Amino acid sequence: MDIQENVSLAEHTTLKVGGPARYFTVVSSIADLESARQFALQKDVPILVLGSGSNILVRDAGFLGLVVKVEFFGRDYKIGNENKVISELGSGEILDEVVAQTVDFGYWGLENLSHIPGTIGATPVQNVGAYGVEISDLLKSVSAFNIETGEEKVFSREECQFAYRESFFKSPEGRQWVITVVTLELSTLEKPSLAYKDLAALSESGAVSQSDIRAKVIEVRSQKFPDWNVVGTAGSFFKNPIVATDIADALLARYPELPTYPVSPMETKLSLGYILDKICDLKGYKTGEVGLFENQALVLVSTSSKSAEIEALVKFVTDEVKEKTGLTIEQEVRTV
Ligand code: EPU
Repeated sequence: MDIQENVSLAEHTTLKVGGPARYFTVVSSIADLESARQFALQKDVPILVLGSGSNILVRDAGFLGLVVKVEFFGRDYKIGNENKVISELGSGEILDEVVAQTVDFGYWGLENLSHIPGTIGATPVQNVGAYGVEISDLLKSVSAFNIETGEEKVFSREECQFAYRESFFKSPEGRQWVITVVTLELSTLEKPSLAYKDLAALSESGAVSQSDIRAKVIEVRSQKFPDWNVVGTAGSFFKNPIVATDIADALLARYPELPTYPVSPMETKLSLGYILDKICDLKGYKTGEVGLFENQALVLVSTSSKSAEIEALVKFVTDEVKEKTGLTIEQEVRTV
């Protein structure tokens, strides 16, 4: 097994910041994972599992342990009963490449998740979602390896404990599990999901193909997200807050245009993008080399090489929201 030392993590994350990993290795098999586990035990260091680094903020101090970059490949599609397409996908596969392929093949389900950066293995962790679809809607099971104990397990959808941008794999216990294969249930039957407002218009012009949906999603995203090759970003930096419905009602009384979404009879999700933009006036706000994107305030952009600058902006934004609305907001991005 090839272990590198003092590898800069800035090059492995889309925010393009972060100090070095003391040790770094790429794994593509269970045997590799077991070797990585033994190495970390021997050196008595913690392990950090990395996919394509599109939802992580690594601090300037880096990581004083072993970073394991997961590159399990493979795409296997089997047509089952009732037009189901059982899709077994290696966790290191690039999500958007899989989306493009399933659109080509006519396997419905993933088209709304077009152009999201990141790997397949990252999708269950934060229950990736966009334009009316969450990965939990399609997921059948997750195969994983416990990096602490060496155990292998297949998690059912229920065992993944999905919620909005949440799963078992985000908990301290769940973090021990390295996802190796994600099995999705797609369909050869047409199943357009057009609830999101920018997609609803598609159905007015008649039958909607998967390619139509993919093209529309890509068009919408190109207006809301910066060019990942040019600036550092991790998509939405914060989660949309979920609050008790009476708190949402009180905010609505003050800000009638605030977009809200019912989660349950007790809870309501609020658009933080709107709050940052229209209530806090922070869309396009910039300090030094870090700011909130001019077309979508929930997206943090950075050309800085220092995570401390990003963290300073995050604190400023969090304090502003607290002061203006009383809300305590949470990061969607994980800080290491
Ligand atoms: N809005 C503003 N100003 C802004 C940004 C948004 O007024 O600067 C308003 C919009 O007009 C809209 C509402 O806020 O009415 C919601 O905005 P948008 O549809 O862009 O979605 P979002 O809630 O900001 C979420 C996800 C995105 C996902 C989109 C589309 C989270 C944290 N983010 O963003 O996911 O692509 O919906 O479904 O839930 C990600 O998680 O990294 C991500 C990009």
